[in-house]
Amino acid sequence: MLILGRKTLIAANWKMNKTVKEAIEFAMSIKPIAKASKDVEVVICPSYTALPAVGRTVAKSRVHLGAQNMHFKPTGAFTGEISGQMLKDVGCKYVILGHSERRNLFHEDNDIVNQKVKAALEISLNPILCIGEMFEERDAGNTKQVLEHQLQNSLKGINAEEMKGIAVAYEPIWAIGTGRNATAEQIDDAVSYIRHILEKMFGKVADEIRIVYGGSVTPENAPDILAVKQVDGCLVGAASLDVEKFSAIIKCKS
Ligand code: PGA
Repeated sequence: MLILGRKTLIAANWKMNKTVKEAIEFAMSIKPIAKASKDVEVVICPSYTALPAVGRTVAKSRVHLGAQNMHFKPTGAFTGEISGQMLKDVGCKYVILGHSERRNLFHEDNDIVNQKVKAALEISLNPILCIGEMFEERDAGNTKQVLEHQLQNSLKGINAEEMKGIAVAYEPIWAIGTGRNATAEQIDDAVSYIRHILEKMFGKVADEIRIVYGGSVTPENAPDILAVKQVDGCLVGAASLDVEKFSAIIKCKS
């Protein structure tokens, strides 16, 4: 199993954006930034169509490749789907699983996410497992319950050793794409609680697991977010489409 440790992870989730040409240009520009930022692991998650080209562009550099989703079956009659093995084939080290857009727009529940996590680990692809509460759930005081439920069910059947290969992304849904990031205090509370649940589930290994924050991260708020002691990085959406902004977020930790 791939053991990650708690080196700061700054990951770009491009969602359904960028042509192959645009993706290559971005990857070229980010390579020297990643090279100079030795304390940060930089990951780019392009759309499927750009994965091979970005994979070739960042090969042997300090930029790692990730995908935004995968199917849990290795092969089969699943029109329009991509397997973990296919992602490995084009150089992916990471795969984002259980993103709220997958959960909410494409009806992926914890059980499906759990099958995906297991399938990824089986072929040594590192999941970035996303969890997070909706605004109504926070408002009703249920944030902790929601986070525990998602962790318990998305990570069912995973053992402590395997858990070392997983990064957890705390992404409050109300903060995604809204320009309204969670405050340092809210992030500290949620991430500390996530680590507490991971400890309950997996014991001491919880200290070795990366927990990152995602939701309207920008170069302006990244320093405060990354200063939260329990936070081991960021999953960046909109700001990761702009090479200047994404570079500035990486440089916060350099
Ligand atoms: P955002 O997206 O930075 O645009 O809010 C984050 C994410 O969806 O991972």
